Amino acid sequence: MLRIENLVKVYKDVRALDGLNLEVKSGQVYGFLGPNGAGKSTTILSTLGLIFPQEGRIELFGEEVFRDGEFNEAKLVKVKARIGYMPENATLWDFLTPAQTLDIIADAFKIPKAERGRRINELLDLVGLKDVRNKKVGKFSKGMRQRLLLAQALINDPELLILDEPMSGLDPKGIAEFKEIIREQRKAGKTVFFSSHILAHVEEVCDTVGVIVRGKLRLEDSIENIKREFLRKAGYTIIIETNRPVDWSSAKWNVTPLGENKYRVVAPEDVREELHDLVALQGAKILTMQVKEPSLEEIFLKLVE
Ligand SMILES: Nc1ncnc2c1ncn2[C@@H]1O[C@H](COP(=O)(O)OP(=O)(O)O)[C@@H](O)[C@H]1O
Ligand SMILES: [Mg+2]
Repeated sequence: MLRIENLVKVYKDVRALDGLNLEVKSGQVYGFLGPNGAGKSTTILSTLGLIFPQEGRIELFGEEVFRDGEFNEAKLVKVKARIGYMPENATLWDFLTPAQTLDIIADAFKIPKAERGRRINELLDLVGLKDVRNKKVGKFSKGMRQRLLLAQALINDPELLILDEPMSGLDPKGIAEFKEIIREQRKAGKTVFFSSHILAHVEEVCDTVGVIVRGKLRLEDSIENIKREFLRKAGYTIIIETNRPVDWSSAKWNVTPLGENKYRVVAPEDVREELHDLVALQGAKILTMQVKEPSLEEIFLKLVE
């Protein structure tokens, strides 16, 4: 559905995309994760032909829309009719209501007048703005603005939804609701590609996550595999107290005594069972155990630093 190959974008003195490769398959919800400044927005803007990369290749719906520094404008226009885009930090018309805003967008997409009212109502309902449909957007919170931006991205019933940081500025309830909308889009057969700098945003909702760091894709995998990988890298700290001294010479982990029969064990993974076995083999018992798992956020930070 979207294939990016060796994409390079250099702003004056910044190599924002440094040979980026990624592939979003039809029907996927793809989380595009990376710290601020990693190149997420640059990737999205390039995909939509809104900025000009210098090198690489972009395919949308099997059509080659960009190659070696040139967009194929005819192909781009054709595929963009099938895409919905929610920009990061878009400006909305503060003096209009959400219904009026969507009416203008619908007009731009040449949605027939007869269909428009129904479509706009459906969308306002979907994003939870029905009750404020006649309030001015200028009074809206960041979360309400994000919802309206999502509704405008959906106006043309797109097959591919591209969302740039759609959950930034939302509270936990808003995030949960946004994820639910994304799940519904997926059920309806849509493909979703969305960026975030927060790991928790892509959890539970994405089947594939790509991590971009300094303009390159660092990894692309299922969220389960990525979590496992993150956990393996970050390491576990386990503090135990035993009923008598333990001989650690056969242990593969890094063990530090913390006082009488108290030890800190640092291992690359969860070794609780092995720890029990080693202690039991010496006829000793673990009396207390404290496990400190790294948080996903900590691990993510470690990966991207
Ligand atoms: N218009 C621009 N002019 C110069 N540098 C830019 C411009 N837009 C982005 N950059 C730089 O390119 C890099 C990637 O930015 P961006 O794609 O916005 O990252 P992200 O969306 O992941 O936060 C950053 O170093 C940013 O400062
Ligand atoms: Mg961005």
